[in-house]
Amino acid sequence: MFKIVQMISPGIVKTINDHLNEVIEPQLTMDVSSYANSRMRAWLQYEAPLSISQPWKSAIKDDRIWSYVTKIGEKHGFIPDIGLVSKGGAIREHRDAFYCNFLSMGINLGECTWTYRNCYPEYKWTPNQNDNAEQEIYHLTGGEVFLFNAKNPHSVSRASEDRWAINLWTVSKKGMSGFNEIKEATQ
Ligand SMILES: [Fe+2]
Repeated sequence: MFKIVQMISPGIVKTINDHLNEVIEPQLTMDVSSYANSRMRAWLQYEAPLSISQPWKSAIKDDRIWSYVTKIGEKHGFIPDIGLVSKGGAIREHRDAFYCNFLSMGINLGECTWTYRNCYPEYKWTPNQNDNAEQEIYHLTGGEVFLFNAKNPHSVSRASEDRWAINLWTVSKKGMSGFNEIKEATQ
């Protein structure tokens, strides 16, 4: 289920975008995932590997952004472990990799079209997934905080060049040993 749980006011969206443009923009690097090859992004707290054989890495620790997004998450019962900030760029339909749990949070800070297919009807795995779930299309304008199942197919298109987005995850059981190792190693 794709569910908008909060709208951030335009004034606050501008404050966040100003901070991202000033502090995070210089730290952006090109996305290495095959489904987002033109997108610029930066990981928050720790960088998750896309396959289980690759290492976790340390990432940007920005207290201002991290405490803000954690506070938003807490309001909706979601305490993130890691995040990814991205600017512009389309993302082809994909499901998020092994490192995260099903329930995810997104914070959209600009204009884009977000699509989603509700194959898993809940925020968890189920044996009777509906592979033919219809595509849902959401035209987002900026300020939307939403929950969705990251293992359901989702994509972003028509993102404006200056559109920032923050994705937040909790680390899955499969990702936990690598996540704990990198946390310990960089403490
Ligand atoms: Fe994703």
